[in-house]
Amino acid sequence: MAPRKIIIDTDPGQDDAVAILLALASPEELDVLGITAVAGNVPLALTEKNARIVCELAKKTDTPVFAGCSEPMARKLVTAEHVHGKSGLDGPQLADPTMALQDMHAVDFLINALRSEAPGTVTLVPIGPLTNLGVAFSRAPDIIDRVQEIVIMGGAYFEVGNITPAAEFNIYVDPEAADIVFKSGVPLVAMPLDVTHKALTTRARVDAFAGLGNEVGRMVAEWTSFFERFDKEKYGSEGAPLHDPCTIAYLLQPDLFSGRHVNVEVELTSELTRGMTVADWWRVTQRPANATFMGDVDADAFFRLLTDRLARL
Ligand code: RIB
Ligand code: CA
Repeated sequence: MAPRKIIIDTDPGQDDAVAILLALASPEELDVLGITAVAGNVPLALTEKNARIVCELAKKTDTPVFAGCSEPMARKLVTAEHVHGKSGLDGPQLADPTMALQDMHAVDFLINALRSEAPGTVTLVPIGPLTNLGVAFSRAPDIIDRVQEIVIMGGAYFEVGNITPAAEFNIYVDPEAADIVFKSGVPLVAMPLDVTHKALTTRARVDAFAGLGNEVGRMVAEWTSFFERFDKEKYGSEGAPLHDPCTIAYLLQPDLFSGRHVNVEVELTSELTRGMTVADWWRVTQRPANATFMGDVDADAFFRLLTDRLARL
């Protein structure tokens, strides 16, 4: 079976980096057409640089990286250096990338790729704020029906918010873009905090990364050790949730996850609950289902898959 064509839209971020590595380590199943960077965890100048660093670490410098939107569609950018550090990839010392950034804007790449690839053959994997997709869908509505599926890391319902009491960071940063994506009608799988908070690093799991004996394993162990300090202090958990790799793991082994196909809408007007994903989990409204909202994961199997694939790089 031909590998699935995907475009990863990202704001690296340590967990984004692990997601990108997992995808690049799985060429039999996934054909990464390109990586589009967006402002989020840190400003765009850093997220596009970090995306190139990760491609070089994976020795996949033929993967094109594009810089996208530097600001949300209608809001001021909110970043998360308090979680990811000033560089966005704090933990290990990192050399500047040498691979080139593509000249084309990420939004133009998204539009061109969806127009040139056969309809229904490209999956979008947004793991940062949804600004690039929101702008692309607004500028070129004809591409929406050409998207095979969207697998997003974002949202929260039972787990409530991580950047405000009500909202998860990716949705909070650009709720208008998220609203466009959730209302697009494209088949959508969401990995909210409800499930990603069950994919927690532990000392044994981080040691398994370090024990791979390759540069990738060492870097991932150092990234997750840095990244987990915030969540351990905030939640008193043993480790950090590996949010973004859940999207790629779903594409590789969907049966690791379970959830419900329900209606999910994004709060736009209230400042108190801006960016909240209101999931009609108990189907108490007549609002049509528009997302498979994941709630559970086989965490041991998830980390086995991740560790086995990182060993290949
Ligand atoms: O809320 C978690 C999400 O926000 C992850 O994608 C993380 O990388 C940050 O972007
Ligand atoms: Ca991210």
